[in-house]
Amino acid sequence: MLDKPVRACICHGRSFEELWLLAKSHAWTTAEQVSQATGCGSSCGQCRRYIERMLETGETRFDILPIESHVE
Ligand code: FES
Repeated sequence: MLDKPVRACICHGRSFEELWLLAKSHAWTTAEQVSQATGCGSSCGQCRRYIERMLETGETRFDILPIESHVE
């Protein structure tokens, strides 16, 4: 298994490292800003929680996060 295997938005072909550099250069602070500019997080949405964590911590490689379940 790869160490920290989640590294990119698959739908839009952009690595989190690339998104992080874009976010820093454009002073984006929210996943919504990243999504509006790049599309990342707006298609399947699976990368959105990683983008949010990237913006919080500066990390660009992640372990697979558990999918949050919603019980109503
Ligand atoms: S993996 Fe990023 S929108 Fe699907």
